[in-house]
Amino acid sequence: MKLDKLVLAAKKAREQAYAPYSGFTVGAAILTKSGQVFVGCNVENASLGLTICAERSAVVTAVGDGEKDFEAIAIVANSNKPALPCGACRQVLAEFSPSMEVFVATTAGEQQQFSLGALLPLPKQGLFENPDV
Ligand code: THU
Repeated sequence: MKLDKLVLAAKKAREQAYAPYSGFTVGAAILTKSGQVFVGCNVENASLGLTICAERSAVVTAVGDGEKDFEAIAIVANSNKPALPCGACRQVLAEFSPSMEVFVATTAGEQQQFSLGALLPLPKQGLFENPDV
C-alpha cells in the first residue's frame, strides 16, 4: 500500500468528522500488517470531555474487526501545521503496535513522519502478568 493512498483514506474520513465545538476536523487511517485499512474521524460531544479523537476511533474499528497489528497510521487535520496525536491516542496505539509509523498531514498536503516509539518512548505496560497484582 502506497503512503499516498493511506493519506487519501484519512483525508476522506476527515469529511465525516463531527466537530461542531472546535471546528477542528481530523481523519485517521490505519494500515494493518495484513494490508487492510481502517478509518476514523473525531466525534465531539457537548460535554467536550467525551470527545473521541480520530485515531482512537480508527483503532476501535480495526480491533472490532479482529485486527491488532498495525504498520502505520495517517492523520489528516484541517490545521496550518500537521497535527500530532495526543498522548492518550499515542498510548492506545502503543497498546497494539509500539513501533508503528505515524504520518501526519494537513489538508493542504504538508506532511511529516515519525515512529510511534519516538513519540512515546516508554508506553505504560500492562500489569496483568505481575503475580502480585
Ligand atoms: N483531535 C483528533 O481527533 N486527533 C488529534 O490528533 C488531535 C485532536 C480532535 C479532538 C477534538 O475533537 C479536536 O480535534 C480538537 O482537539
